[in-house]
Amino acid sequence: MQMPAMPQPTFYIFKCEQSSPPGMPKPSCVTQETQGLFNHLASKMMEKGLMGPVQPIRTSCLGRCQMGPVMLVEPGHHMYVQLSKEKIDRIVEEHIIGGNPVQEYLIPEQFWGEPINLNQ
Ligand code: FES
Repeated sequence: MQMPAMPQPTFYIFKCEQSSPPGMPKPSCVTQETQGLFNHLASKMMEKGLMGPVQPIRTSCLGRCQMGPVMLVEPGHHMYVQLSKEKIDRIVEEHIIGGNPVQEYLIPEQFWGEPINLNQ
């Protein structure tokens, strides 16, 4: 008997969990003040019954440290910046559940141009 194909998640959410050692001048996404954001995201997902269809992933640096805390929502290459718990809640409600990215929390265009073309 053939098994039905295992479905893909609808979204992956890559949350940058990089922290710089104390005293390092370079900014990073995880500091004393922002260290609870991944757990907040995961709790919100569980509360809404989204675990499985949506996979939150802890990742290292996504290359936009100046604008941290950041997270990338796929599909769509949606990079959210300067996150807070309130912003995460709204992104879950409007983008993940509602299907509409929250435009004002996305990275400004000058920092997120067209993807690099590998064939040039
Ligand atoms: S430390 Fe998060 S993007 Fe670099």
